[in-house]
Amino acid sequence: MADSGLKSVDYGLEKIFEDAQDFLPLLGTDYVEFYVGNAKQAAHFYKSAFGFQSYAYKGLETGCKDYSSYVVKQDKIRLVLTTPLNSKSPINQHLAKHGDGVKFVALWVEDASQAWKETTGRGAKSFMEPTVEKDEHGEVVRSGIYTYGETVHIFVERKNYKGHFLPGYQKWESEYNPAPVGLNYIDHMVGNVGWGEMNTWVKWYEDVMGFVNFLSFDDKQIHTEYSALMSKVMSNGNGRIKFPINEPAEGKKKSQIEEYLDFYEGPGVQHIAVATDDILTTVTKLRERGVEFLSTPPDTYYQLVPERLAAHNHELAEDIEKLKALGIMIDADEEGYLLQIFTKPVEDRPTLFYEIIQRMGARGFGAGNFKALFESIEREQEKRGTL
Ligand code: FE2
Repeated sequence: MADSGLKSVDYGLEKIFEDAQDFLPLLGTDYVEFYVGNAKQAAHFYKSAFGFQSYAYKGLETGCKDYSSYVVKQDKIRLVLTTPLNSKSPINQHLAKHGDGVKFVALWVEDASQAWKETTGRGAKSFMEPTVEKDEHGEVVRSGIYTYGETVHIFVERKNYKGHFLPGYQKWESEYNPAPVGLNYIDHMVGNVGWGEMNTWVKWYEDVMGFVNFLSFDDKQIHTEYSALMSKVMSNGNGRIKFPINEPAEGKKKSQIEEYLDFYEGPGVQHIAVATDDILTTVTKLRERGVEFLSTPPDTYYQLVPERLAAHNHELAEDIEKLKALGIMIDADEEGYLLQIFTKPVEDRPTLFYEIIQRMGARGFGAGNFKALFESIEREQEKRGTL
């Protein structure tokens, strides 16, 4: 089994982050917005299955005639679910082509005008010039640039805003409030790009956003008997925003990245990793609520875990039998270990899925689990006839 990718990086991460450019200071992820076929039902799913809370709403009742948006929140994570209200909305073309998926990855900044100027000046294609939106609680400035595929980064400046979410939204209060499951923040968001395009986008994140490439995995590290992919992890200077970028690689059969590109009909967000500080409780609750996860790795996988941790001088604090019963995977590097599990795609098209992750010191992405994970995905591809 491949070892953690961190091992091959023999320089300190702090040094790498120093190399990041500071022309685009990012304070964190502001929200992630999805275009979906039915936002009302999608919001219900994220509440009942994933434990998100009703947060804000925009639609016919607030004077928005073209689309509805439901915002759900869990700790620091805000998801916006948007659906068109008529056939003329341009959102329809996006939906027809891609199905439900991530349209906007919004980043919180001090100055959205400056962020737009710096990035478009470095070659980004503009989606939206800096735009001021106001209500009685102040003003928000937003701007946006295209990244891979039809995906967009929005820059959100909210320092002069005291309102609930964004101008135009009302507070969404509901009588149905399922309890949260312990999801705290977005750890990373992964993009799938086309054949031979990974390095183009790595360079784009370096040049346009000032990010640095701090981990790389080639197809020799990430492969199974049948399929392969390559991945490079991009991070901003403070390490709060991490975007791994995948591209397919040649294998005997069709890789999961190709399957994604076929069904999403182009590049897009492959998975969102959300952090918890108690993965046993979180995954137990998610399973009870009907969230579907990839199949549990075989016994041999769990038998090897103690020695994989011992190789890095770590000891598992959790009961391995409990992790195994829930199908949670374990990976280790010099700094610690991490616990992770992946859902099945959350739409009918095999496109976007979620990762639940608990970091116990490790800063990697579970490279030691890639093989077991991909074999599990291949079992699903086999059922879909897309391997
Ligand atoms: Fe991940």
